Amino acid sequence: MSENLLELRNVSKVFRIGGLVFGTRLVAVDEVSLSLPAAEPSILSIVGESGSGKTTLARIILELEHPTSGDVLIDGHPLFEKGGAGLKGRDYYRAVQPIFQNPFEAFSARKKVDKYLFGAALRLNIAQNRKEAREIVAEVLESVGLDLARVEGKYANQFSGGELQRISVARSLIPRPKLIVADEPVSMIDASLRMNIVNLFLELKERYKVSFVYITHDLSTAYYVSDYIGIMYRGSVVEYGPSEQILTDSAHPYTELLLDSVPTVDHKWERGVKLPDIELNEYQAQACKFAKRCKYVQAICERTIPPMVRVSAERQALCYKPIDFDPNATVSQRESLESIKTES
Ligand SMILES: Nc1ncnc2c1ncn2[C@@H]1O[C@H](COP(=O)(O)OP(=O)(O)O)[C@@H](O)[C@H]1O
Ligand SMILES: [Mg+2]
Repeated sequence: MSENLLELRNVSKVFRIGGLVFGTRLVAVDEVSLSLPAAEPSILSIVGESGSGKTTLARIILELEHPTSGDVLIDGHPLFEKGGAGLKGRDYYRAVQPIFQNPFEAFSARKKVDKYLFGAALRLNIAQNRKEAREIVAEVLESVGLDLARVEGKYANQFSGGELQRISVARSLIPRPKLIVADEPVSMIDASLRMNIVNLFLELKERYKVSFVYITHDLSTAYYVSDYIGIMYRGSVVEYGPSEQILTDSAHPYTELLLDSVPTVDHKWERGVKLPDIELNEYQAQACKFAKRCKYVQAICERTIPPMVRVSAERQALCYKPIDFDPNATVSQRESLESIKTES
């Protein structure tokens, strides 16, 4: 077994938008590196506002999109390396399962939803016959709080969004995956039911020893369930590490801003974070993308892209501030920061 269940190494995705002549490059995912240890199942939340590159990153992990550069390793197997063996075909589809944003798009209106469940069990050779498939389907449905008798024979439109998303979760469990990638799985569901589904991930993590990449624009839903959090801003992961460290002592000014807008006990959960729309030049600037909104901004932030700074053993932030403001910064950290400042 590899040390990491999931590892992203300098993953970038560049889209060309517009025509060939006047077109421009859009860096949707910008040099993202992070890893999820294999030792314990865990929940990694990727949090960022709309347009920050979360879905593109999820699609790359799900092998639905090729990165422009960089690599993704699942259990030590590189997915995109030229000539690499990767985790091809059936093995990959058993190890990594998706849950999408809109459960009504995940199931055709003309096919009974139980067909998807029995199909998954039989097609992936998980069940040897229909009887076994029934047992497996009944068990995964029970694990998401649903009864086979209640689900059988019905079409997607006979369920609520919340129920249908639970059925998507049940389906994703059938191949006994190691990793489930859920892209905004609760954003189309009634606000009052969202935490039920997110909390379900916690239960399933323990019961099935499955890890989750939980993608959300809403830090408040990630708050209680995450073991690790990656904060995305304009394609970059600007801070990454164990969630309690990030939530109690954020290193990146953008994380600080997000945390300031997270509802507390007496506020409603729905209150989201509203930031201005992205300007294209922010994707392209040779500077910190957050500089214009940062209350700690220094001249250097407008001239260079900050390095990923190791803030603690497991935590990193794409920012000069943790070194500048940290009384415990090492001599070599200070020296490298000074040399960047004088060079630029
Ligand atoms: N296929 C595509 N072609 C061109 N641009 C794209 C494509 N997919 C996504 N983008 C752009 O990449 C950026 C990141 O998008 P996305 O990954 O969907 O972000 P998020 O999921 O965080 O909202 C957006 O500006 C989006 O318009
Ligand atoms: Mg998205």
